[in-house]
Amino acid sequence: MTVKGIVLAGGTGTRLHPVTLSMSKQLVPVYNKPMIYYPLSVLMLAGIREILIVTTLEDITGFRRLLGDGGQWGLRLSYAIQSAPRGIADALIVGADHVDGEPVALVLGDNIFHGPGMSRLLRRAVAELTGAVLFGYPVADPQRYGIAEVDADGVLRGLVEKPAEPTSNLAVTGLYLYDGRAVDMALRLTPSARGELEITDLNRLYLELGEARVVNLGRGFAWLDAGTHESLLAASEYVRTLEERQGIRIACLEEIALRMGFISAADCYRLGEQLGRTAYGRYVMDVASAVQRAGLREVVR
Ligand code: DAU
Repeated sequence: MTVKGIVLAGGTGTRLHPVTLSMSKQLVPVYNKPMIYYPLSVLMLAGIREILIVTTLEDITGFRRLLGDGGQWGLRLSYAIQSAPRGIADALIVGADHVDGEPVALVLGDNIFHGPGMSRLLRRAVAELTGAVLFGYPVADPQRYGIAEVDADGVLRGLVEKPAEPTSNLAVTGLYLYDGRAVDMALRLTPSARGELEITDLNRLYLELGEARVVNLGRGFAWLDAGTHESLLAASEYVRTLEERQGIRIACLEEIALRMGFISAADCYRLGEQLGRTAYGRYVMDVASAVQRAGLREVVR
């Protein structure tokens, strides 16, 4: 079984105009790297290496230029066009050939996840994957999100998209794991009032079968979206604060590829060199040297 990955990086980004009039939202920097690095890092930390980037006709060239075929990070990246924003669940239909009946992890290109044990949590969820696995996160403004209603035992009971009067503060984040039936289930959906195939409707189909569960990320995690000027700035500040304080980098794809064993320390070092005299490049070289010296390919714990 190979779990396939999809990053959805389409849409119009209207809330970030004029910034996104001429470039994709998911290419806009969050502090010191393009936004898409963050969701891509989540899939890599889950051990997923075959990843489809779904984007628009206008933006596909920019993503290809940035990410290429992914071989530099030990990935296999491919690209597909969503010609109009027909909904998040539509990404599964656009990516049907890529998914090819296998389980799939779908992540939104503007979602940022960071927290202790993220990799372990994801790898466990992938290893135990049946039905649909959603990731919940408590928020102060649940009416802005899809929300999960859970009972006292944490069992998922209901899913509602952007309720005016939320009955729970547990938002459903933009990372979704599905078993091999996801594409067939998405094909059964009918468009919502706003003409989209809603991801919440797909999740509800799994819930009706009794095959959806939610993993609560809890308060130790950071889940940020970067869809407005304010949240983009807040996300950049968050990344800068942690990186400066700890001397580490969040969503550094070269480091993750090395620590996951996708590339060797020598490969990683070369990638750092290619980045030239930037702080990012130096960091990549330093990480590669440290792992080389330790004589092991550390696996992310
Ligand atoms: O961020 C988590 C939330 O994402 C969930 O809690 C909601 O249940 C889910 O519906 C979604 O809500 P949003 O309001 O954030 O959805 P939005 O339409 O803004 O789409 C999210 C991203 O996906 C956005 O960056 C653009 C991209 N997108 C969206 C649609 C509908 C596409 O690339 N294609 C699309 O057709």
